[in-house]
Amino acid sequence: MSRERFQSNDAAAAVDPLSRDGRLAWPLGLEQLAYGGDYNPEQWPRETWVEDVALMREAGVNLVSIGMFSWASLEPRRGEFHWEWLDEIFELLHEAGIRIDLGTPTAAPPAWFFRAHPEARVIDREGRALGPGSRGMACPSAPAYREAATGITRALAERYGDHPALALWHVHNEYGAPVGESFSPFAQAAFRDWALRRHGSLEAVNNAWGTAFWGQVFGVPEEIHAPLPTPSVQNPSLELDWRRFSSEQILECFRAERDILREITPHIPVTTNFMAHTCPNIDLWQWADEVDVVANDHYLIAADERNFVELALDADLTRSIARGRPWMLMEHSTSGVNWQGRNIAKRPGEMARNSLSHVGRGADAVMFFQWRASRKGAEKFHSAMLPHAGTGSRVWHEVTELGAELGRLSDLRGSRVEAEVAILWDWESHWAQDLPWRPADDLSHRAQIQTWYERLWRDHIATDFAHPEDDLSDYRLVLAPASYLLTDAAAANLDAYVRGGGNLVVGPFSGIVDADDGVRAGGLNAALAPVLGVEVHEFCPLREGREARLVLDGKPLRSRLWCEDLQLHGAEAIGRYTDGPLPQGTAATRHSHGAGTAWYLASDLDVEDLSALFSEPYSAAGLAVRDLPEDVELLERRSTDGTRHLIAINHTGEPAIIPVEGLRLEVPAGGVATAHLPAAGAPATD
Ligand code: GLA
Repeated sequence: MSRERFQSNDAAAAVDPLSRDGRLAWPLGLEQLAYGGDYNPEQWPRETWVEDVALMREAGVNLVSIGMFSWASLEPRRGEFHWEWLDEIFELLHEAGIRIDLGTPTAAPPAWFFRAHPEARVIDREGRALGPGSRGMACPSAPAYREAATGITRALAERYGDHPALALWHVHNEYGAPVGESFSPFAQAAFRDWALRRHGSLEAVNNAWGTAFWGQVFGVPEEIHAPLPTPSVQNPSLELDWRRFSSEQILECFRAERDILREITPHIPVTTNFMAHTCPNIDLWQWADEVDVVANDHYLIAADERNFVELALDADLTRSIARGRPWMLMEHSTSGVNWQGRNIAKRPGEMARNSLSHVGRGADAVMFFQWRASRKGAEKFHSAMLPHAGTGSRVWHEVTELGAELGRLSDLRGSRVEAEVAILWDWESHWAQDLPWRPADDLSHRAQIQTWYERLWRDHIATDFAHPEDDLSDYRLVLAPASYLLTDAAAANLDAYVRGGGNLVVGPFSGIVDADDGVRAGGLNAALAPVLGVEVHEFCPLREGREARLVLDGKPLRSRLWCEDLQLHGAEAIGRYTDGPLPQGTAATRHSHGAGTAWYLASDLDVEDLSALFSEPYSAAGLAVRDLPEDVELLERRSTDGTRHLIAINHTGEPAIIPVEGLRLEVPAGGVATAHLPAAGAPATD
């Protein structure tokens, strides 16, 4: 197949309604919700391809992701390209009307690459060189890797850029995992330059990292080092900058590939698959601006029986980093995965509930890993759209049903979710709070945010996530459950939000350090003390297994981990400890600040007890707790013409009836119901 044989894709590049900043931002030419999965035809003989494509049509598949791990099949020996098989796949899919999300295979460099460039292997913190024999990129800072990655990317773009089946570029796979950092000599040299650039001079690096402590001062730039193993704990500010640097190094790899794709195929949008909630290594606020469409992978935490709440958090976070634009669920599983301790099979209806929960939170694509279960390799026990048990299986039946259901929901494409509440989320703060030698290792920002999120989830209040420096003025309520690190700009932003009439609720151990993980002059929470009207004088975590009781909103509550000694400076105490390390001490406060109000909770509360904290802010913000059966969700998206799309999801074993504006939505046990309400006029159901 030669490039000339293709009918050019350029003609199809009419501006899509979902375009952003003048660029196409959606799988080109796809006018429905996307449905499909990772497809790895190189693992199968040719006869199977024909059957695959026929079955994809039967299932309603309209998009497949191919090529993410195909480098060795495409270029088995350096410079020797084998395009025939991929040419054939392109043609087969194209004839069937299935569009292609083409991966660049740079997450799995071939054996010849590592043989030629052993120096490009990832070096872990203990100094071991990793791979080959699995997957995971080479060292992101190694020149040979960058050159080879951009080389194969260019070759792919030149070969397939004009193919009419090509809908989207999928760069790499899950950047940041399994490789989030490398300690190669290339990386260490780049870190030195990065640190000098970020801080401006050697003296400024010394100041930012507080190297005067434990006599770590660098006399010359060559002494700046990566956080290699040390006899005692590593410098925390250096560790934090290393995380920033590592995220940016990987981002440079993405940019290099993306820029080639934009140069050769400016009409094809580019994405890469994030793991918004689960990959701690990359700062997605920074990354999300670099892609044309945000795509996310989500896998349930098998051990968690109510894992649909974490799913919801992840989906809301993904929509938020996409800045409210429609996004793609690029991977999830039809049933069990194979990489957790016990891999729990999904029960009937669970896959559809999971999928529709993502859609209800703004996803315009429902994709899986993977199309056909592999017979060999590390993931042979991972579920698939077409499982080992074949088309007679329950999973296959549900896959075809879901395809049909998504086909009926095409009108949702492009509609938005509107939220009046935001939770602050900042990867840099998470990195900093995870560093060792804290007042309590188990005061987890992640658990804190998850608990506060779950309170909103149970109260059926739609929630965005926001960066602490974002414009928050459109939100009626902002929650900061875990904002350990706040930049000066973020602190000023929160202050302005409240002064301007906003409602802010802040959780414990917040506003403690600046961008360099340094405690500010002026006290432990100097960044937030003015807006909260409270100074933190001491952290008083509890001994393991102990509790401190407190009373808030007239209700007796319990803290299991954390108390703070507070001094009021304008705030009113609304909660007090009755025992524990600070009997009669203030546990929660309210502070009128400008035209708004800020609440502070200096303790940890579980999801039930949080209701007592949230009742006042909810009413100040005019938010109502919706009266729905427990574990039944009602999600809403709105089209630009004002049509409201409702998706009700019933996670329980009992049928539920949800009254919505004169409509009775009947949701079967473990099922999903949808309805569309026109902008004005009589409601219409599905
Ligand atoms: C990740 C990867 C896939 C596959 C799945 C399995 O999301 O991107 O290649 O390994 O996990 O769950």
